[in-house]
Amino acid sequence: MQKYRQTPLIPSAAIQARIRDLAHEIDAEYSGDDSFAVVGLMNGSLFFMADLLQAMKTQPPFECWRVTSYHGTATTTSGTVQGVSSCHGTFEGKRVLVVDDVLDSGLTLHAVKNELLKRGAKQVKICVLLRKKIRRQVQVKAHWIGFDIGKEFVVGYGLDYDGHFRQYRDIFALHPGDDGVPTLESSTTNSQNKKLKTSDTRRGNTGNKRKKLC
Ligand code: IMP
Ligand code: MG
Repeated sequence: MQKYRQTPLIPSAAIQARIRDLAHEIDAEYSGDDSFAVVGLMNGSLFFMADLLQAMKTQPPFECWRVTSYHGTATTTSGTVQGVSSCHGTFEGKRVLVVDDVLDSGLTLHAVKNELLKRGAKQVKICVLLRKKIRRQVQVKAHWIGFDIGKEFVVGYGLDYDGHFRQYRDIFALHPGDDGVPTLESSTTNSQNKKLKTSDTRRGNTGNKRKKLC
């Protein structure tokens, strides 16, 4: 696998602490409501959704929807969201919470929200781990946000670049070159390499068993 230059952005401990706060707020919103249901968007929100659901006291039924808008080594949306209409579940009269990894262009969450309303959901709210500070292609309101970040392309904790890096516990930003494409590690300085080696933890590893990223 290629080695890409990357910088630690959000450590695992900060992610988990934020998830506890979000779970508390979401519990307060939906407590005692039998119409509450969750839809998590795969693969990106795999770990976020699991950790959030386990941190919540409310126990809503949930579905995992597989939708895609990024392809291969692209770091920007293809502009079309695929898979939404073939996703599973009936949502008539439900208050649905959509859980996703990143709010970027807004196209994915816009399409998912419309599909749920089309299927009879009476309310759709959105919780994202990350909200990028960019001009969105469509306006979508996220009701719960883990972290606001810049426009950098990020990996780890479910987020991938070309299918890689999802398993890492921490979130990292990939360094874009002048052409916007992530740069390979061969151009990394020694001090940057050192920083990466000591800050990365793979999901499931203990603090003592650190592994170099990629
Ligand atoms: P949007 O439709 O442009 O808002 O993009 C949403 C989807 O694109 C997210 O659910 C992610 O799967 C993917 N995505 C957007 N930005 C990133 C990123 O920085 N890293 C990895 N995936 C991303
Ligand atoms: Mg996604």
